[in-house]
Amino acid sequence: FLEKGEVEFKNVSFSYPESEVPVLQNLSFSVKSGETLAILGSTGSGKTSLFQLVPRLYDVSEGEVLVDGKNVRDYPIEALRKGIGVVPQEAVLFTGSISENISWGKEGAVQEEIVQAAKDAQIHETVLKLPNQYDTRVGQRGVNLSGGQKQRLSIARALVRKPKILMLDDSTSALDLKTEAKLLEALRKYACTTFIITQKISTAMEADHILLLDDGSIEAWGTHEELLETSPLYVKIVQS
Ligand code: GTP
Ligand code: MG
Repeated sequence: FLEKGEVEFKNVSFSYPESEVPVLQNLSFSVKSGETLAILGSTGSGKTSLFQLVPRLYDVSEGEVLVDGKNVRDYPIEALRKGIGVVPQEAVLFTGSISENISWGKEGAVQEEIVQAAKDAQIHETVLKLPNQYDTRVGQRGVNLSGGQKQRLSIARALVRKPKILMLDDSTSALDLKTEAKLLEALRKYACTTFIITQKISTAMEADHILLLDDGSIEAWGTHEELLETSPLYVKIVQS
């Protein structure tokens, strides 16, 4: 659905349709195919809003978002929805089985693909311990899962579609460092361009680029080492 998964923001500003307040101001950056971008910033700085502009959950107010050199407005919405895996900040499960929850949005997913996605998302072992394993019902009338387990199921849901662009909105916040490291390692073979909103410096350190947002503007851009040199705010976050 997408060719390479390169993403470029060109002078992007954004305010929500019903409001005048600018949430993102004049953002420009680009991420190459297969690279990982970590997005950091305090609550309300605009991280989730930035995410939403790539699959066109919202449209920019000014500027352009390009995927593989083409304005996202010029793609059929289906291509964006299928080529971009968005794992939202609040994982949503449907009433249905684990398998159905993982394969949702991908018609014709076979069990092996579902299990592979679950393994890569580091949720397979947990699923095996459930009363009916992959047939266990979750959601409103099903078994209760923890926040971190729901997060991993929703990562598996994105992975089963083999997206060219994967967007994780704080999706690893409830994971311990070891599980998160395994997850990030497993993501490598998907070779997708990855946007990862995170509060953890350990995650940011692994990324090709870090974008530090402050009140809707880019406060700093670079690698961990570069930001230590150039951004007092980044240093403050590292030390906190
Ligand atoms: P955390 O998830 O708390 O870390 O924050 P964030 O960095 O993801 O911020 P987000 O992009 O959600 O919000 C940025 C700004 O946009 C804040 O001032 C929000 O109040 C505002 N905002 C977020 N969602 C909406 C919305 O649906 N409508 C309007 N009008 N404003 C919104
Ligand atoms: Mg957010």
